[in-house]
This record gives sequence, structure tokens and C-alpha cells, in this order.
Amino acid sequence: MQLKDRVAFVTGAGQGIGAAVARAYAREGAKVAVVDMNLEAAQAVAAQIAAAGGAALGVACDVSRREQVDAAVAQVTAAWGRVDILVNNAGITRTAMLHKMSGEQWDAVIAVHLTGAFNCVQAVAGGMIERQYGRIIYVTSAAGVLGTIGQINYSAAKAGILGMTKSTAKELARYNITANAIAPGAATPMTEVIRTDERFKDKYLDRIPLGRWAEPEEIAPVFVFFASDASAYVTGQILAADGGMTIY
Ligand SMILES: NC(=O)c1ccc[n+]([C@@H]2O[C@H](COP(=O)([O-])OP(=O)(O)OC[C@H]3O[C@@H](n4cnc5c(N)ncnc54)[C@H](O)[C@@H]3O)[C@@H](O)[C@H]2O)c1
Repeated sequence: MQLKDRVAFVTGAGQGIGAAVARAYAREGAKVAVVDMNLEAAQAVAAQIAAAGGAALGVACDVSRREQVDAAVAQVTAAWGRVDILVNNAGITRTAMLHKMSGEQWDAVIAVHLTGAFNCVQAVAGGMIERQYGRIIYVTSAAGVLGTIGQINYSAAKAGILGMTKSTAKELARYNITANAIAPGAATPMTEVIRTDERFKDKYLDRIPLGRWAEPEEIAPVFVFFASDASAYVTGQILAADGGMTIY
């Protein structure tokens, strides 16, 4: 078991990639806080993990709200004493062409991806520094590297996360804390339109050398790698698990 007795805090884990990561961490022996603004979904994933013999806690938290993040970290610390691994996975899209995008659409995406990740990293960093140990994993996207149509808010947020990853890595390396980012390929309902709509489907699929869409379960092992001691000497890096879509 690669994560035995580690405590993980996985945001947006009520479904999709985050839920797959929570399940994979639990299988590797971690105690997993399944954090989501949808408490029912978080509790369902936690119950599934517990039924499989793992340790998990469903935690309600909107990551864009600092007081909710502090409360969630306090709840997990009260239960398990600390947070060793943070996965900043919670995310949303609010799609519109840039000349039609509302201020609310812009703000909502920036608030969850950037402010949310900042709130979480700030809330756990103090404890990690004290214990001289931590693994911080951000989630970015090909959209942050290549840009995308109809998602200037999302592309800006995901590009911002690349900067946050590198700054976190440089600042916290002296405390034995690593920070890396994963850019998953298209999987889960978030990208349903590009995977199913006839106007986009083939165009996108043609750009993926492996020639198929991703399953969250095949992206989760990359999150295990960055959470484990196997990546002890790796920090500030971006790993794309996207079937080769961003080979360039
Ligand atoms: N799905 C993809 O193809 C893809 C590709 C590249 C990157 N990503 C990124 O991967 C991450 C996970 O994506 P997914 O496809 O699994 O998403 P998803 O939509 O399936 O799940 C996202 C989860 O985050 C939760 N959430 C949303 N806002 C929140 C908030 N403010 N606070 C707490 N929880 C919140 C939702 O309730 C949901 O359970 C995101 O950061 C996304 O941008 C996804």
C-alpha cells in the first residue's frame, strides 16, 4: 500500500475524477476526506469506500468560501489529526464565447478554480510545514496550456493553476512539501458535450493519439503517484494524462 495511514483531502470528490481519486487513495491505505459542495454525493462516495473496507469521511464544503474550507480542514483534523495530501480538484465550467460571457460566468469559474485552490492550500500549508511533510496536487487542463473556444474563464483559471503549482513548489520545497499538477484528458460529464456532440466529437478524438476518451479510473493512478513516496523527488511538474492530446 503506497499511502498507508496518510490523510488525504480531495475536493470535488462527490463524482467524476475526484471520486475515482478518493477510491484509489483509499485502496492504497489512505484515510480520505471526500470533500464536495454536494454533501449527499460526498457521503455516497465515502459510504462506497467504507463498504469496500476503506476509511472515508464525507465533508460538505464550497471551496470558494474560505470559512467553509477552514471548517472542513478543522473537521478532518479533529477526526484524523492532520492533512498530509491535498488534491485541489473541485471545478466547474461556465461556457460562453468571450464577447457574450457575463461577469458572473467569469467570476464563478475563477472563484472555484483559483480562489478555491488558494483557500485550500493556505488552510493546510501551516500544518504541513509544522510536520515537514506534504503532498499538494493541483488539477489543470489542456485548456490552460492550449486555450479553448468558449471557455476563456476556464482557460485563464487552468493557466493560473500552472503558476500556482510552480510557486507552491518553490515556496514549500524547503519543508519537504511537493506540489505538482495533473492535466487530465476528457472524461466524465464535464466534457460530455465534446465527447458526444456530432459537431465536436470526431474533431477532438482525432487530436488524441491513443484514439479514445479517458476513464477517471485510469487517471487516478497518476494522482496516487504524486501523493506517494514514489514522487518524493518530483516537484513543480505538470503531468498530462490525456492520451497524448498535448504532445507538442
Ligand atoms: N472531465 C474532464 O474531461 C476534465 C479534463 C481536464 C481537467 N478536468 C478538471 O478535473 C477536475 C474534475 O473534473 P470532473 O470532470 O471530475 O468534474 P465533475 O463536474 O464530474 O465533478 C466536479 C465536482 O466538483 C464539485 N464542485 C464544484 N464546485 C465546487 C465547489 N465550489 N466546492 C466544492 N466542490 C465543488 C461538484 O459538486 C462535483 O462533485 C476539475 O478541476 C476539472 O476542471 C476535467
